[in-house]
Amino acid sequence: MKIVYISGSPRKKDSNTDYLLNLIRSVTGGEFIKLIHHRIAPCNACRGCLKHSSCKIDDDFTNLLTPVLLEADAVIVGSPVHFNNVSSQLKAFIDRTWSLRGKLRNKIGGAVVVGKRYGAESAITAIHAFFLKHEMIPANRGVCGMAFNPGEIKTDAEAMASATKLGERILELEKLTHRGAENYVSKKGGGYHV
Ligand SMILES: Cc1cc2nc3c(=O)[nH]c(=O)nc-3n(C[C@H](O)[C@H](O)[C@H](O)COP(=O)(O)O)c2cc1C
Repeated sequence: MKIVYISGSPRKKDSNTDYLLNLIRSVTGGEFIKLIHHRIAPCNACRGCLKHSSCKIDDDFTNLLTPVLLEADAVIVGSPVHFNNVSSQLKAFIDRTWSLRGKLRNKIGGAVVVGKRYGAESAITAIHAFFLKHEMIPANRGVCGMAFNPGEIKTDAEAMASATKLGERILELEKLTHRGAENYVSKKGGGYHV
Protein backbone atom coordinates (compact mmCIF):
# COMPACT_ATOMS: atom_id res chain seq x y z
CA MET A 1 0.00 0.00 0.00
CA LYS A 2 1.25 3.47 -0.84
CA ILE A 3 0.63 5.99 1.89
CA VAL A 4 1.46 9.65 1.65
CA TYR A 5 1.63 12.02 4.61
CA ILE A 6 1.01 15.72 3.91
CA SER A 7 2.01 18.25 6.55
CA GLY A 8 0.61 21.77 6.36
CA SER A 9 2.66 23.01 9.31
CA PRO A 10 4.96 25.93 8.46
CA ARG A 11 6.98 25.28 11.64
CA LYS A 12 10.46 24.19 10.54
CA LYS A 13 11.62 22.56 13.78
CA ASP A 14 9.73 20.46 16.32
CA SER A 15 6.37 20.86 14.62
CA ASN A 16 3.61 19.28 16.70
CA THR A 17 1.69 18.27 13.58
CA ASP A 18 4.76 16.59 12.07
CA TYR A 19 5.32 14.72 15.31
CA LEU A 20 1.82 13.16 15.25
CA LEU A 21 2.00 12.44 11.52
CA ASN A 22 5.31 10.66 12.00
CA LEU A 23 3.87 8.67 14.90
CA ILE A 24 1.15 7.35 12.57
CA ARG A 25 3.77 6.78 9.92
CA SER A 26 5.75 4.62 12.36
CA VAL A 27 2.73 2.26 12.32
CA THR A 28 1.99 2.30 8.58
CA GLY A 29 5.16 3.40 6.80
CA GLY A 30 4.86 5.80 3.87
CA GLU A 31 6.21 8.97 2.33
CA PHE A 32 6.30 12.29 4.23
CA ILE A 33 5.75 15.56 2.39
CA LYS A 34 6.11 18.93 4.06
CA LEU A 35 4.27 21.55 2.02
CA ILE A 36 6.62 24.43 2.90
CA HIS A 37 9.37 22.57 1.06
CA HIS A 38 7.43 22.92 -2.18
CA ARG A 39 6.24 25.75 -4.37
CA ILE A 40 2.45 25.59 -4.34
CA ALA A 41 0.58 28.56 -5.75
CA PRO A 42 -3.02 29.11 -4.72
CA CYS A 43 -5.74 28.08 -7.20
CA ASN A 44 -6.41 31.03 -9.51
CA ALA A 45 -9.81 29.72 -10.64
CA CYS A 46 -8.69 29.78 -14.29
CA ARG A 47 -10.82 26.67 -14.96
CA GLY A 48 -8.07 25.30 -17.19
CA CYS A 49 -8.50 21.92 -15.50
CA LEU A 50 -12.09 21.73 -16.78
CA LYS A 51 -10.80 21.84 -20.35
CA HIS A 52 -7.52 19.95 -20.05
CA SER A 53 -8.27 17.67 -17.06
CA SER A 54 -5.02 18.78 -15.40
CA CYS A 55 -3.86 21.92 -13.61
CA LYS A 56 -2.25 24.50 -15.86
CA ILE A 57 -0.13 26.10 -13.11
CA ASP A 58 3.49 25.07 -13.60
CA ASP A 59 4.71 24.42 -10.04
CA ASP A 60 5.47 21.62 -7.57
CA PHE A 61 1.81 20.79 -7.01
CA THR A 62 1.33 19.93 -10.66
CA ASN A 63 4.74 18.44 -11.38
CA LEU A 64 5.65 16.63 -8.14
CA LEU A 65 2.67 16.25 -5.84
CA THR A 66 -0.02 15.30 -8.37
CA PRO A 67 1.71 12.05 -9.44
CA VAL A 68 2.29 11.11 -5.77
CA LEU A 69 -1.38 11.72 -4.92
CA LEU A 70 -2.63 9.74 -7.90
CA GLU A 71 -0.47 6.75 -6.94
CA ALA A 72 -1.37 6.80 -3.24
CA ASP A 73 -3.83 4.38 -1.64
CA ALA A 74 -4.09 6.54 1.48
CA VAL A 75 -3.54 10.26 2.07
CA ILE A 76 -2.99 11.39 5.65
CA VAL A 77 -3.31 15.15 6.04
CA GLY A 78 -2.11 17.17 9.03
CA SER A 79 -2.34 20.83 9.93
CA PRO A 80 -1.86 23.18 12.86
CA VAL A 81 -5.05 25.05 13.73
CA HIS A 82 -4.68 28.57 12.35
CA PHE A 83 -7.57 30.91 13.08
CA ASN A 84 -9.92 27.96 13.68
CA ASN A 85 -9.02 26.48 10.33
CA VAL A 86 -6.21 24.69 8.51
CA SER A 87 -2.98 26.56 7.71
CA SER A 88 -2.87 28.66 4.55
CA GLN A 89 -0.27 26.25 3.14
CA LEU A 90 -2.67 23.34 3.47
CA LYS A 91 -5.61 25.37 2.16
CA ALA A 92 -3.68 26.20 -1.02
CA PHE A 93 -2.89 22.49 -1.45
CA ILE A 94 -6.54 21.47 -0.88
CA ASP A 95 -7.84 24.04 -3.37
CA ARG A 96 -5.40 22.87 -6.03
CA THR A 97 -6.77 19.30 -5.78
CA TRP A 98 -9.92 20.58 -7.50
CA SER A 99 -7.98 19.79 -10.66
CA LEU A 100 -7.99 16.10 -9.60
CA ARG A 101 -11.77 15.72 -9.35
CA GLY A 102 -12.77 12.06 -9.68
CA LYS A 103 -9.17 10.86 -9.46
CA LEU A 104 -8.82 10.50 -5.68
CA ARG A 105 -12.03 8.50 -5.29
CA ASN A 106 -11.96 5.61 -2.77
CA LYS A 107 -8.52 6.47 -1.42
CA ILE A 108 -8.33 6.28 2.37
CA GLY A 109 -8.07 9.61 4.21
CA GLY A 110 -6.76 10.39 7.68
CA ALA A 111 -6.90 13.78 9.42
CA VAL A 112 -4.64 15.26 12.11
CA VAL A 113 -4.82 18.74 13.62
CA VAL A 114 -2.96 20.41 16.49
CA GLY A 115 -3.99 23.63 18.19
CA LYS A 116 -3.59 25.48 21.43
CA ARG A 117 -7.28 25.37 22.34
CA TYR A 118 -9.81 26.81 19.87
CA GLY A 119 -11.07 25.66 16.50
CA ALA A 120 -9.68 22.12 16.22
CA GLU A 121 -13.10 20.79 15.26
CA SER A 122 -13.43 23.33 12.41
CA ALA A 123 -9.97 22.44 11.12
CA ILE A 124 -10.74 18.69 11.19
CA THR A 125 -14.04 19.42 9.40
CA ALA A 126 -12.16 21.28 6.66
CA ILE A 127 -9.91 18.26 6.09
CA HIS A 128 -12.84 15.84 6.13
CA ALA A 129 -14.72 18.08 3.67
CA PHE A 130 -11.72 17.70 1.36
CA PHE A 131 -11.93 13.90 1.66
CA LEU A 132 -15.69 13.85 1.09
CA LYS A 133 -15.59 16.19 -1.90
CA HIS A 134 -13.24 13.65 -3.53
CA GLU A 135 -15.35 10.69 -2.39
CA MET A 136 -12.42 9.42 -0.37
CA ILE A 137 -12.93 7.19 2.69
CA PRO A 138 -12.21 8.96 6.01
CA ALA A 139 -10.56 6.41 8.30
CA ASN A 140 -12.12 7.73 11.50
CA ARG A 141 -12.94 11.08 13.13
CA GLY A 142 -9.29 12.11 13.10
CA VAL A 143 -6.71 13.12 15.68
CA CYS A 144 -6.98 16.42 17.60
CA GLY A 145 -3.85 17.34 19.54
CA MET A 146 -3.56 20.16 22.07
CA ALA A 147 -0.24 22.01 22.03
CA PHE A 148 1.13 25.50 21.50
CA ASN A 149 4.92 25.51 21.78
CA PRO A 150 7.28 23.53 19.53
CA GLY A 151 7.34 19.86 20.57
CA GLU A 152 4.76 20.35 23.32
CA ILE A 153 2.51 17.67 21.77
CA LYS A 154 4.70 15.04 23.42
CA THR A 155 2.83 15.78 26.66
CA ASP A 156 -0.58 15.03 25.07
CA ALA A 157 -0.86 11.31 25.78
CA GLU A 158 -4.40 11.11 24.40
CA ALA A 159 -3.41 12.58 21.03
CA MET A 160 -0.48 10.18 20.78
CA ALA A 161 -2.74 7.20 21.55
CA SER A 162 -5.26 8.44 18.93
CA ALA A 163 -2.46 8.75 16.39
CA THR A 164 -1.45 5.12 16.91
CA LYS A 165 -5.11 4.07 16.61
CA LEU A 166 -5.46 5.99 13.36
CA GLY A 167 -2.44 4.14 11.99
CA GLU A 168 -3.98 0.80 12.92
CA ARG A 169 -7.31 1.80 11.41
CA ILE A 170 -5.62 2.75 8.13
CA LEU A 171 -4.02 -0.70 7.94
CA GLU A 172 -7.37 -2.32 8.73
CA LEU A 173 -9.17 -0.31 6.03
CA GLU A 174 -6.49 -1.17 3.54
CA LYS A 175 -7.14 -4.88 4.09
CA LEU A 176 -10.91 -4.36 3.85
CA THR A 177 -10.77 -2.34 0.66
CA HIS A 178 -8.49 -4.85 -1.00
CA ARG A 179 -10.81 -7.67 0.01
CA GLY A 180 -13.67 -5.60 -1.46
CA ALA A 181 -11.83 -5.31 -4.74
CA GLU A 182 -11.25 -9.08 -4.92
CA ASN A 183 -14.94 -9.78 -4.27
CA TYR A 184 -15.94 -7.32 -6.94
CA VAL A 185 -13.66 -8.91 -9.49
CA SER A 186 -14.75 -12.48 -8.71
CA LYS A 187 -18.47 -11.57 -8.87
CA LYS A 188 -18.29 -9.66 -12.11
CA GLY A 189 -15.48 -11.65 -13.64
CA GLY A 190 -13.99 -8.43 -14.99
CA GLY A 191 -11.57 -5.69 -14.04
CA TYR A 192 -11.99 -3.55 -10.99
CA HIS A 193 -12.51 0.10 -11.78
CA VAL A 194 -11.30 2.48 -9.10
C1 LIG B 1 -1.18 32.19 12.58
C2 LIG B 1 -1.52 31.29 13.73
C3 LIG B 1 -2.85 31.12 14.08
C4 LIG B 1 -3.20 30.26 15.13
N1 LIG B 1 -4.53 30.10 15.42
C5 LIG B 1 -4.90 29.22 16.38
C6 LIG B 1 -6.29 28.99 16.62
O1 LIG B 1 -7.18 29.54 16.01
N2 LIG B 1 -6.60 28.08 17.58
C7 LIG B 1 -5.63 27.42 18.31
O2 LIG B 1 -6.00 26.62 19.17
N3 LIG B 1 -4.31 27.63 18.08
C8 LIG B 1 -3.92 28.50 17.12
N4 LIG B 1 -2.58 28.70 16.85
C9 LIG B 1 -1.57 27.90 17.60
C10 LIG B 1 -1.06 26.68 16.81
O3 LIG B 1 -2.14 25.90 16.35
C11 LIG B 1 -0.16 25.84 17.70
O4 LIG B 1 1.00 26.56 18.05
C12 LIG B 1 0.22 24.49 17.11
O5 LIG B 1 0.84 23.71 18.10
C13 LIG B 1 1.19 24.62 15.95
O6 LIG B 1 1.43 23.35 15.40
P1 LIG B 1 2.79 23.02 14.60
O7 LIG B 1 3.90 22.99 15.62
O8 LIG B 1 2.56 21.72 13.96
O9 LIG B 1 2.95 24.09 13.58
C14 LIG B 1 -2.20 29.56 15.84
C15 LIG B 1 -0.84 29.76 15.48
C16 LIG B 1 -0.50 30.60 14.45
C17 LIG B 1 0.95 30.77 14.04
